[in-house]
Amino acid sequence: MYLVTPERLEKMKRILQTRQNTLRVFMDYVYSHHNLSAIVRTCDAVNVGKLYYRHQKKVKLNNEITMGAHKWIFTEYVEDIEKFYQNIKSKGYQVVVTLLDKDTIDFREVDYTKPTLIVLGNEVDGASEVSIKYADKKVIIPMYGMSQSLNVSVANAVILYEAQRQRAAKGMYDKPSLPPEIIEKTLRKWAYEDIINKN
Ligand SMILES: C[S@@+](CC[C@H](N)C(=O)[O-])C[C@H]1O[C@@H](n2cnc3c(N)ncnc32)[C@H](O)[C@@H]1O
Repeated sequence: MYLVTPERLEKMKRILQTRQNTLRVFMDYVYSHHNLSAIVRTCDAVNVGKLYYRHQKKVKLNNEITMGAHKWIFTEYVEDIEKFYQNIKSKGYQVVVTLLDKDTIDFREVDYTKPTLIVLGNEVDGASEVSIKYADKKVIIPMYGMSQSLNVSVANAVILYEAQRQRAAKGMYDKPSLPPEIIEKTLRKWAYEDIINKN
């Protein structure tokens, strides 16, 4: 039995049933808390399967940083980046690194309906050498003004909503991609935490 209201429970179920398990994001040393927060909120809005991150300081995503949005997405801190890439590639993910470079393709040329990891770089240095080494696709969002780059959280939103558009067109938001046991386990956790945090 769940102690949350039926409406709240329905909302939690809908989130888990539309979650895009095979669309994931990696923040490769994104530094500013403001950007971390904005990225987490867009990942929540598009309902990505998981958000990986590493940081100069081992920060824990918390309410102060994300205004609570991190609670509804699966997050994981990356300790060993080489192992992380080897593992995700062995699961069949394409690694799509966002980059400001000549050796890139337009971000709309990628098929995001495949299992995909989108990589976002640091505000000053961009994506790390290791991320570039593992890239299957290097993508750019075309820039026509004076600025050389977008804010990293804006770049994330632009790319994720292209992925969302492609996946919605393919009906990928219409059927669950998470295993039923994960949906059930997460529902119990969320419902429990919801009650605990209210009291
Ligand atoms: C401010 S930019 C980094 C600028 C850095 N000087 C460089 O040359 O990579 C921060 C991050 O935002 C993303 N980004 C910003 N504008 C982008 C664009 N036009 N195309 C692709 N990615 C972009 C990338 O993830 C980038 O690593």
